[in-house]
Amino acid sequence: MLGHLLHLAGIDSFIIENRSEDYVIERVRAGILEQSTVDLMIENGVGERLRREGMPHDGIYINVFGKRHRIDFAELVGRRITVYGQNEVVRDLIEARTVTRRPLYFEAEHVAVDDLDSSQPLIRFRHEGTDHELRCDFIAGCDGFHGVCRPSVPAGALTVYEREYPFGWLGILADAAPSSEELVYTLHERGFALFSMRSPKVTRLYLQVPPSESIENWSDQAIWDELLRRMTTRDGWTPNIGRITQKSVTPMRSFVAAPMRYGNLFLAGDAAHIVPPTGAKGLNLAASDVVVLARALKAFYERGSSDWLNEYSDTCLRRVWKAQRFSWWMTSTLHRSPDETAFDHQRQIADLDYLTSSPAAMTSLAEQYVGLPMEVSFESVGLKECRRA
Ligand code: DHB
Repeated sequence: MLGHLLHLAGIDSFIIENRSEDYVIERVRAGILEQSTVDLMIENGVGERLRREGMPHDGIYINVFGKRHRIDFAELVGRRITVYGQNEVVRDLIEARTVTRRPLYFEAEHVAVDDLDSSQPLIRFRHEGTDHELRCDFIAGCDGFHGVCRPSVPAGALTVYEREYPFGWLGILADAAPSSEELVYTLHERGFALFSMRSPKVTRLYLQVPPSESIENWSDQAIWDELLRRMTTRDGWTPNIGRITQKSVTPMRSFVAAPMRYGNLFLAGDAAHIVPPTGAKGLNLAASDVVVLARALKAFYERGSSDWLNEYSDTCLRRVWKAQRFSWWMTSTLHRSPDETAFDHQRQIADLDYLTSSPAAMTSLAEQYVGLPMEVSFESVGLKECRRA
């Protein structure tokens, strides 16, 4: 996305990816786009397929111990979310990049960043057997939690805030028509479960499991038994069953590294922060980071101003911390913790009772779930004008 926004602003960039094109296009990841992420894609000319194939949702269900409650985003806050796989977003952006003929390297090896204390930092990588060195004005570390950029910052320059959760998510994709038009977040005595989807024929489902759970311990039958046990409501709603085509376990953590900058290296997305998935915020935070970064880089090249670059980290972190708080709240409210006290559990029940009976509480969830405003609007970046030009 950053590469595309920079392209629209007439700024050169190289994109260096260590995975293969097929891998990034096919790897199933998150699936919920906030309205501003959808608008960002559409307004910048990469939202055609999203507009056609994305599944807009006006609300979600919360299933508390067998009773389903609906939270109506459209009515409460006048905004909606869209179900569209993150890998589909990646596919659309690769296609847009290819049309521009700007550089995009897949399967880059031995990627390293260096000279971070200079005004012209260096990226080294090997591609198709040839070693490359790239001197640049700026490096955008959009390389994820396990990428090379954040660990290349000298020790002590970043403060890390971190919380691990005593559970993970077992996720599956199934060839089954979604049995609900909207997502269903479930809290059952045995733990959390989530019903989602990818298309009119594909259901996406998640189960809370121990964080180091091995997927080998779960036969397809055991997964369905547990999903149905947790999700089936008292009035008989239940997911449709189908062939499981993909399954995996992911641990959950909250993580922030601050500031999101060292010299001319700017960290964005998961390279700087991780949220537990319960609030569906990870991809959307990455999108808002790069809007802030694109605006700052554009001001630097057009007006010679570094003000927005200097504000980049603080601007992003304001939105990041609010999303961290929301993701932590969704996670702790909807999971059973192995070390919870009886008091904790009663407080959790009261939290859900309050949520599902108070329009004020529902509005607060709705406002955060559809996405708090981007700290800078992409209109203010002037990118729409660039596209027209
Ligand atoms: C999906 C993932 C999430 O983390 C979430 O909160 C909702 C839906 C999904 O993959 O569809």
